[in-house]
Amino acid sequence: MAARPALDERLATLACPVDHTMLDPAVQDSPWDFYDELHEKCPVFPMPEIGAVMVTKYEDVRYVLTHPELFSSSGRSGKGSRAKADMAQRYQQILRERGWGHVETLQRTDPPDHTAYRRLVAKAFLPKRIREMTPHIDDVCTGLIDALIDAGECEFHMDFAMPLPGTIIAEELGLDRAEILRFNRWASAMLAMAMRPLTEEQMLEAVETELEAQHHLAAEFERRRDDPQDDLISTLVHAHVGEEDAEPLTVAELQNLMHQLVTGGFETTTSALNHGMWLITRRPDVQERVRKDLSLVPSFVEEVLRFESPVAGLVRRATQDVEVNGVVIPEGAMVMARYQAANRDAEVFDHADEFDLDRSRDHQHLAFGVGPHFCVGAALARQELVSAFTAWLERTSNIELAQPFDGPVHESSFMLYPMVELPLRFTAA
Ligand code: HEM
Repeated sequence: MAARPALDERLATLACPVDHTMLDPAVQDSPWDFYDELHEKCPVFPMPEIGAVMVTKYEDVRYVLTHPELFSSSGRSGKGSRAKADMAQRYQQILRERGWGHVETLQRTDPPDHTAYRRLVAKAFLPKRIREMTPHIDDVCTGLIDALIDAGECEFHMDFAMPLPGTIIAEELGLDRAEILRFNRWASAMLAMAMRPLTEEQMLEAVETELEAQHHLAAEFERRRDDPQDDLISTLVHAHVGEEDAEPLTVAELQNLMHQLVTGGFETTTSALNHGMWLITRRPDVQERVRKDLSLVPSFVEEVLRFESPVAGLVRRATQDVEVNGVVIPEGAMVMARYQAANRDAEVFDHADEFDLDRSRDHQHLAFGVGPHFCVGAALARQELVSAFTAWLERTSNIELAQPFDGPVHESSFMLYPMVELPLRFTAA
């Protein structure tokens, strides 16, 4: 019998008439025309350079995310170049030697392992708990705005969009909220390898910062072992996955869960806050309408999440040859579910490339994913966004960009959609 061609060869044979790459920072900065072209000509887009395909249509993305037996969340490191693979290996080796190498928990597992981790973490983010937290989230928004309002201008990204989710996730975990700048630095370092190609020096800087985070967190775990508090770190330190008499989570597992909560809780919500505020400055009609009727804020938030989804895409691994939209994706390929493109699918959302406050909700957007890995922090993120935009629109009579962007609006990232900055000018109400 003839030997089966290697994955690279099989990916290279997938035909596609679209000649761009998602790795181009200019495409990442404004990917919308590219997605339209892919929807029309090549909805399952081969990326043999990284051993992946990118799935862009709404129904196909749903299919990938709701079939973990075909598209696994485990063992899904991308291939990339030889140099990138070597660098990733060195990064892990340094972590193993001087801290804790990455292990697979929660987002990197499939049911039934996933279900056990999920149960532990989900308790801290149930809707009832978020309702209890809401007055405090409102207070944090008020405090941040109080410090800015008299100046009539701010750099929204660092002055508000980063500290709001940073403060809330730090408090929820049981970390010191005064240190959010440090946590933000950790989150950026933890994401760095996945976001963009790094130089050797940048990789070493990122791993040192992650080691700093790991050792700080390990000391927090130890403290909670003897003296549990009413916070998520204490819950996790004393938790058993599976049977009651099972071993507690290892420090490596705890580190990995923290990694996901710190990165998941920060950059995503910051991006959604930035994009919502940027939209407010670009669409004075929307600004005026929502300010006059604050009950529209939740619809505004949902449309921002659809229109400029903060998580551009995440990957799965094909567990077998599997056909999607007429394309056979080879076993072992990385499959990127492109939430951002799915949310602009014109077959599902009328005038998908327009921001429409009155859009019907017949189809739920996929900004938080769908299926077993649906964002565990979605209710918290939604509340932070609603509290923030309500407070800003109540406290101001006008918000505008302080100066036009003269370079890329977004940082280069394959996975997320982070804005570089957002200088604002506003008039207090
Ligand atoms: C607007 C803000 C947010 C967006 C757009 C967002 C988006 C997402 C998406 C798309 C997923 C699915 C991942 C997958 O399919 O593999 C996810 C999962 C996750 N998110 Fe969020 N997220 C946000 C806020 C948050 C917050 C505030 C937290 C924590 C405090 C958080 C923690 C997580 C975790 C831990 C997972 C993994 C869940 C699992 O694998 O079961 N996220 N998020």
